[in-house]
Amino acid sequence: MDIDFDGKVYLITGGASGIGAAVVHYLARHHGCAVIADINDEAGNALVAQYPQRVRYRNTDVTQLAQLEAACELAETTFGGLDGAVNSAGIGSLGTVADMPVDEWHKVINVDLHGVFYACRASIPLLRKRGGGNIVNIASLSGVRADYGFAAYNAAKAGVINLSRTIALDHAHEHIRATAVCPGYIATPLTAAAGSVDAIHNDWLQRIPLQREGTAEEVAQLIVFLLSPASSYITGTEIVIDGGLGSSNNQPNIPGIFAAL
Ligand SMILES: NC(=O)c1ccc[n+]([C@@H]2O[C@H](COP(=O)([O-])OP(=O)(O)OC[C@H]3O[C@@H](n4cnc5c(N)ncnc54)[C@H](O)[C@@H]3O)[C@@H](O)[C@H]2O)c1
Repeated sequence: MDIDFDGKVYLITGGASGIGAAVVHYLARHHGCAVIADINDEAGNALVAQYPQRVRYRNTDVTQLAQLEAACELAETTFGGLDGAVNSAGIGSLGTVADMPVDEWHKVINVDLHGVFYACRASIPLLRKRGGGNIVNIASLSGVRADYGFAAYNAAKAGVINLSRTIALDHAHEHIRATAVCPGYIATPLTAAAGSVDAIHNDWLQRIPLQREGTAEEVAQLIVFLLSPASSYITGTEIVIDGGLGSSNNQPNIPGIFAAL
């Protein structure tokens, strides 16, 4: 897939790593520009060094609205404006409602839900100046259905999906589209620790009809499609990209069990 971004400018939170970084690579290689808003200075600056004409990095904690406003300002002063935002910054955390430290709950909700709200809040005034734009929020399959022991993450990601719908409703008349992308098991630094445990990795693959994890580049292809005019009639919805992981309702494979008897 080749989409030419023709100088269009995007804020990419979490753009230093994983899915966000794959979007930055795609944009930079297809004539787009990106401002990375992340806290990983080393990885962010390495991307700037790779694409000095098209990428900027600003140390930005997405839990701080003022820092996101400064990142958007950088897009305006460097590249002349903003055409969209990909909000990919996120963290995971294990814990049940009964047992997780309350501080941990707040930390995850702050980054994964408030961070998306702040990034959208900072971006929308600039999109208005352009006469429209595009927001792609990275939620998760974990926002569509729940995981064992991921209470805060599940709640935050479900919030991101409905936040994306409400942005689509409220700003459609300003030609701003908003969608939520919901990945399943994607090989990135976020899943590296769990995925390196054979028992977890193999259990995952056995539940995925396509029988493999996805790549950040595969998710980036969906995101850039959503940013582009090729998806001009898509807004206010969530799109799952999971190799089929979420397609089962968890009933037994009855024909499979009969066949094995
Ligand atoms: N990898 C998966 O399987 C998967 C599945 C579903 C959803 N997601 C979501 O995709 C998004 C990207 O995840 P990834 O897999 O690329 O992980 P990743 O860890 O490679 O990238 C996440 C990025 O977010 C940045 N970040 C974390 N906290 C931040 C903060 N407070 N302020 C600014 N930046 C911050 C990190 O520095 C990192 O660069 C996340 O929102 C994640 O929840 C990932």
